[in-house]
Amino acid sequence: MNQIAEFAFRSSSEADTERLASRLAERFHAGTVIALDGDLGAGKTRFSQAVAKALGITGVVNSPTFTIIKEYEGDALPLYHMDVYRISMAEADELGLDEYFYGEGVSLVEWSSIITPILPPQHLHLFIQNEGETERIIRLTGYGEPYVSWVNELKRMGV
Ligand SMILES: Nc1ncnc2c1ncn2[C@@H]1O[C@H](COP(=O)(O)OP(=O)(O)OP(=O)(O)O)[C@@H](O)[C@H]1O
Ligand SMILES: [Mg+2]
Repeated sequence: MNQIAEFAFRSSSEADTERLASRLAERFHAGTVIALDGDLGAGKTRFSQAVAKALGITGVVNSPTFTIIKEYEGDALPLYHMDVYRISMAEADELGLDEYFYGEGVSLVEWSSIITPILPPQHLHLFIQNEGETERIIRLTGYGEPYVSWVNELKRMGV
């Protein structure tokens, strides 16, 4: 059975969100999957931009809402940035996303709850809650290893 660990991080600024992204990005490897949810404007893309920066990606990173998937070449790892807001579970199933999820890079999926059934069982889920102008609560849930360990480490050591 898949083990689970949870940690709620309070972000009071974009700098806090960037710090969380860097702490996580230090641990990324080929096949890392980060699933993102939260309302419109919660900060899914802002978090993705912070991850891109941490991976050494210098270009502009936007919500790939219309293209669904954008690939970026990082210093050590490529980034596959997905936004499945506009597609259905059936359409997503046709895209063959496993090639990304189990590929050479890091997958970030905005609006991941739409495609929960086709996410790898091991992944890190972030739910971003808007608590005011610059306040966010970012709920991290690790499903399986190594994500359970990442969440427990952040919980223990702080962000
Ligand atoms: N602490 C914070 N962490 C992250 N973003 C923040 C924070 N405070 C303010 N923001 C702002 O919140 C906005 C988040 O927008 P963003 O596009 O990332 O949302 P989103 O969740 O991707 O929305 P959508 O579902 O429409 O794509 C940005 O304008 C960002 O500057
Ligand atoms: Mg977005």
